[in-house]
Amino acid sequence: MSVIEVNKLTKDYGRGRGIFDVTFGVHKGETLGFLGPNGAGKSTTMRHLMGFSKPQSGTAKIDGLDSTLKHHEILKNVGYLPGEVALPEGLTGREFISMMKNMRKTKGADRADELLKLFELSPDGNVKRMSIGEKRKLAVVTAFMSDPDILLLDEPTSGLDPVMQEIFIDFIREEKKRGKTILLSSHIFSEVEALCDRIAIIKDGRLISTVDAADVKHGLKNEFTIEFDSTDDFDRFIHSGVTPENGDKSAKKCVVCVPDEQTNDFLTALSKCSVRSMEEHSVSLEEYFMHFYKNDKTFGVGGVKNA
Ligand SMILES: Nc1ncnc2c1ncn2[C@@H]1O[C@H](COP(=O)(O)OP(=O)(O)OP(=O)(O)O)[C@@H](O)[C@H]1O
Ligand SMILES: [Mg+2]
Repeated sequence: MSVIEVNKLTKDYGRGRGIFDVTFGVHKGETLGFLGPNGAGKSTTMRHLMGFSKPQSGTAKIDGLDSTLKHHEILKNVGYLPGEVALPEGLTGREFISMMKNMRKTKGADRADELLKLFELSPDGNVKRMSIGEKRKLAVVTAFMSDPDILLLDEPTSGLDPVMQEIFIDFIREEKKRGKTILLSSHIFSEVEALCDRIAIIKDGRLISTVDAADVKHGLKNEFTIEFDSTDDFDRFIHSGVTPENGDKSAKKCVVCVPDEQTNDFLTALSKCSVRSMEEHSVSLEEYFMHFYKNDKTFGVGGVKNA
């Protein structure tokens, strides 16, 4: 059973904005990366999961609790790091931490000091005067300080310097080992690659695809650029049942992504053609997802499962 469950969640803000029929789950102990362009609906989905917004239809649940009906319980049990941290006037970091503890009525562990040390944040300054990165660190500390088993992290490292991003990634790796269930939105591919077991992709408010991170990484290695000896060879290959990502007949070249289960078909098709050259690419996760960000209609081709 999924610990985080979103089922046909819909909130229409008008003029095509909002989230529509969004369905996905995060299993116990899993980290799900939540990716999509600006304005795609990631923060909106997370706010609904926390019960800060009410859906028009559909449901959001955490640990079996309906997010709207059990908002207060969810606040107590779930570590939430919002995309934008609203900090009140006139408080020091330490006072803000105390305020969050009281508001959420969290019980149990208190890791605030340990986390302040790990992220090298002094809690004594006025929160309003903190730098962007310091505010982000404070949000990380408040999300994790009660040691919750479930975390919703909305762009947790945006604004953190590269050293702090590394520290954060190592920290999350340890948290994963401790069995935490995490929904993590991010635009930082190295972070997604390092931490996520699966990746859900949202665009224009609709979930397009959910992929296993391992499948993506594995699939990426099997992309080939093939140059044929003649246009006849090019045609024979194109009509062999193997679907290329793209092809250029005049150049007698095509790019093809071969999932493991299609390796035999691919080799059979190739054996019937005269090939001038063949090159294997190693594409990074970033390049792979850029297809999608840039509106590439062929996104998802290449052995990646659709949701
Ligand atoms: N309260 C609201 N009223 C009206 N429109 C809203 C509201 N909240 C969000 N939206 C719209 O819904 C869409 C999704 O916004 P959301 O903040 O969820 O995007 P996002 O995927 O988190 O983007 P980013 O990567 O920029 O953080 C946007 O077009 C936004 O303008
Ligand atoms: Mg957002």
